[in-house]
Amino acid sequence: MKFGKSIGILGVAAAGILLGACTAGGDNQGLEYAPQMYHSVAYEPLTQITDETQGDWLSNREDGKGEFYNSNIYNPHNMNMREPVANTVPRTKDGYLPYRLKAFELEEAALIENPVELTDAVLDEGETLYIQYCSTCHGKGGEGDGKAGEIIGGVANLKGGAYINLPEGHIFHVITKGKGRMGAHGSQITPESRWKIVHYVKQEIQKQ
Ligand code: HEC
Repeated sequence: MKFGKSIGILGVAAAGILLGACTAGGDNQGLEYAPQMYHSVAYEPLTQITDETQGDWLSNREDGKGEFYNSNIYNPHNMNMREPVANTVPRTKDGYLPYRLKAFELEEAALIENPVELTDAVLDEGETLYIQYCSTCHGKGGEGDGKAGEIIGGVANLKGGAYINLPEGHIFHVITKGKGRMGAHGSQITPESRWKIVHYVKQEIQKQ
């Protein structure tokens, strides 16, 4: 009889535990067997949780913090991601450094070298781009006699005077930021295309 009674008690206890496991809902997943099997300890870069008490009720972590606490104390600001290495600069999606010179910084711009290799194909593309973006004012031959240029007036003759010796970086800068009566073209023409135009202006218009 005693044996039967213990079985009965065991049965009730087992049913209790089973029912206890059925309380899942919201952020309570009920009773879990070996919770560390479910809750990854990986550092999640986009869901950093800095509150050490989050998930306290569930935790059996060795460091005594809440189960959901997810921050890396060895990183700056306890971030899960690392900060970029000091003095590194992210490139743009075309692989160029961001262009940070201001419109008036022409002297600095003059020091920049053309990163695009000069080839016949590049000159062809430069010509197409020049005709598309510049010839309306500067004219096909660069003499400042484009149709729109006639109306605007004061368009530089790229073949004349001091213009002939302009450094490539200077021309790139003027296309990017504009100068005086010429508007900025930085938002319309990609950096690579601007450098191709510079090659075309130097080689074919100024014959330098
Ligand atoms: C809307 C007309 C217009 C367009 C389009 C235009 N320019 Fe100009 N450009 C001017 C005018 C006007 C000036 C004279 C600016 C001034 O000094 O006031 C000028 C000046 C320049 C200069 C001389 C800069 C200096 O240091 O004095 C260069 C080089 C130049 N343009 C290149 C280009 C190139 C390359 C393009 C095509 C991407 C282009 N421009 C498109 C009107 C234009």
